[in-house]
Amino acid sequence: MIRKNGAIFCLETPHTTLAIKADTAEYLYYGKKLVSAGNFESCRGLPCKLLSQFGQDDYTEPSILLENADGGISTAFTFSKSKILKEKPQIPGLPSSYGKGKTLELKYVDEPTKVALYIYYTVFEDNDVIAVSSKLFNASEKELHIRRLASLQLDLLGDYSVVTFEGAFAREWQKVSRTLNKGVFYIDSKNGASSHNRNPFVMAKGQDGVYAFNLVYSGNHKEIFEACESGKTRVLTGINDFMFRWTLAPGEQFDAPEAVMCFAPDEDGVSSQMHAFIGEHIVRGKWKKKERPVLVNNWEGTHFDFNEEKLLGIARAAKKAGVELFVLDDGWFGNRCDEHRALGDWYDNIEKTGGGLKHLADKIREIGLDFGIWVEPEMISEDSDLFRKHPEFAMRVPGREPTRLRWQLCLNLADEKVQNYVVRVISDVIARSGATYVKWDYNRTLTDPFGKGIPQGEYFHRYMLGYYRIVSRITEKFPDVLFEGCAGGGGRFDLGNLCYFQQYWTSDDTDARKRLKIQDGTSYGYPQATMGAHVSACPNYHTGDSNPLETRFNIACGGVLGYEMDMTKLSVEETEVITRQIEFYKEYRKVLQFGDFYRLGNAFGGNVAGFMSVSKDKGTAVAVVTVYEQIFGGPAPAVKFKGLDPSSVYEVKAREQANYKKAPCFTAGGGFLMQGNVFLSDIYEDTQRRENSGCLYSRMFLITKVKKEYS
Ligand code: GLA
Repeated sequence: MIRKNGAIFCLETPHTTLAIKADTAEYLYYGKKLVSAGNFESCRGLPCKLLSQFGQDDYTEPSILLENADGGISTAFTFSKSKILKEKPQIPGLPSSYGKGKTLELKYVDEPTKVALYIYYTVFEDNDVIAVSSKLFNASEKELHIRRLASLQLDLLGDYSVVTFEGAFAREWQKVSRTLNKGVFYIDSKNGASSHNRNPFVMAKGQDGVYAFNLVYSGNHKEIFEACESGKTRVLTGINDFMFRWTLAPGEQFDAPEAVMCFAPDEDGVSSQMHAFIGEHIVRGKWKKKERPVLVNNWEGTHFDFNEEKLLGIARAAKKAGVELFVLDDGWFGNRCDEHRALGDWYDNIEKTGGGLKHLADKIREIGLDFGIWVEPEMISEDSDLFRKHPEFAMRVPGREPTRLRWQLCLNLADEKVQNYVVRVISDVIARSGATYVKWDYNRTLTDPFGKGIPQGEYFHRYMLGYYRIVSRITEKFPDVLFEGCAGGGGRFDLGNLCYFQQYWTSDDTDARKRLKIQDGTSYGYPQATMGAHVSACPNYHTGDSNPLETRFNIACGGVLGYEMDMTKLSVEETEVITRQIEFYKEYRKVLQFGDFYRLGNAFGGNVAGFMSVSKDKGTAVAVVTVYEQIFGGPAPAVKFKGLDPSSVYEVKAREQANYKKAPCFTAGGGFLMQGNVFLSDIYEDTQRRENSGCLYSRMFLITKVKKEYS
């Protein structure tokens, strides 16, 4: 809801209020919902601005920086007009959130040049997340250059600590907290993707609560925090201005990607709003709320070494255990016998598939599984027919040796010819295989950014626009297909991609201990139905560590469950265990994938960590708890559950695990389960303990409401 009172606009979400004074471009209030009318004029004094510019006496980090036609950088955007829009405007060429809600449009004009800046704030009826975007229109008669256009500026009063999610390949999503001292701190990505290293989801924690921000964008981004001498803290988020210089001709507009923000009293509150927002306003299509299938993926099981017989063997074993979807990963096309070749040759390798993709997919379907396929459409190997025919499709700087990563180059997606090629060949792969699931991979970062005729400062963003053109066309063509994005794991896990791909591969690291942290970090900003999570074989391919099969499953239940192993190598007992796991998962899949998600314990610093998913009616919950290590003589590990109804009585039953048969069961009030301590001492009783020294112990609890009222 948006209320107008003169120049003041009050944007109300279910639990927050954002008050904006349009004529002075000021935030008057943002935080917990105001239940009584405010005297917003009294909030003034230390202006919290929604836009800032350079060239006058403001030396803080600007939200907008232009090179005017006269070569100067001064601008003086002043208020022109405001409007409340009933429909949320689309952002041309870029992904954005959607749904019912009102949008405030604010227009500011730089009078000397007539350049107009539009800022949009959308409030959804059902959620606290506010979508913000900016657009620049060149109404002058001369060309100008954009050096920075932030998607969102928020000025906050007081001191804040910043929480970011940082990492690397196979170590994504490590939670990092920093206290802001006076000065400027930023995180960014320059490698062409939202990156493994620094996700655009960030939080600012202050005395009143937590402000969270994200970008609906998959390319280079930058999040700036400036703790000003004056006592305010500025937050800016948007496209990275590093190397950015966009030419805007007269009559043209430039759209910055959409940013989103929310306020909640604590981190759990932020996650719950972000999760609901993504589920309702970002993810779209048939799979939006549909339970996701349990899959088997052959990558860790076979890598490139497979043939029809091996694949069908895995499919049969998987079917027997209850798996629903078979995913054929890398190596099925062209001469792709290893990482060195064939990317771009999206035609069937007859030998490895036993007669082509359709033939293999039909055989898999005869076994009773759906068929899914892996592709890496943005790449090209130099040893490929595509490169031999179209070397100009590759992104490289003429006359220079290109940087090879994983022995491959990127395609120049900024070129329309290349975009059309990718749409054609990838559509053909999906159509001829009849795939109901596609894993869209992206296994290297951008280097040598260059496209003939494309100004250097525009290249990265033009790549993204080309990328979005491709994925929007393909996903629109195949509305029934479930898409899972992947970028060597979670290297491009962001809201931009989730507008097209309903889920994303969280990390190539499938080691349960490492995964617990990686998934925990992801869960701050993204819901469990978007996180691919697989049980893989032991010792783990990446870490060499071994964890009990039941722990691997328990942790994978924090996302969308899959198995990634050669299932023909399982013992009879292991197959039985996995069969029971999948049976359990299917029974509680809805709550696990779409329930309200809570983190338990502290994955980044405590000895107990886990998560739980609670059904919307709070009637059923599944909780997973792990203990990192046994501390002899130390405090007994215990957990406090979350999200239950405090006044109801629940039965708490441990799932019977192959390595833990006792499966205790007790009843207790929801209040006690959340405020008291549920001790986990017997977690060390795993029968596999001796064989798996140093392994991660875990339990899964099924928590069911048995009585409405606690008496
Ligand atoms: C990336 C993905 C893996 C797998 C391989 C195939 O590393 O993250 O899951 O698909 O590529 O080459």
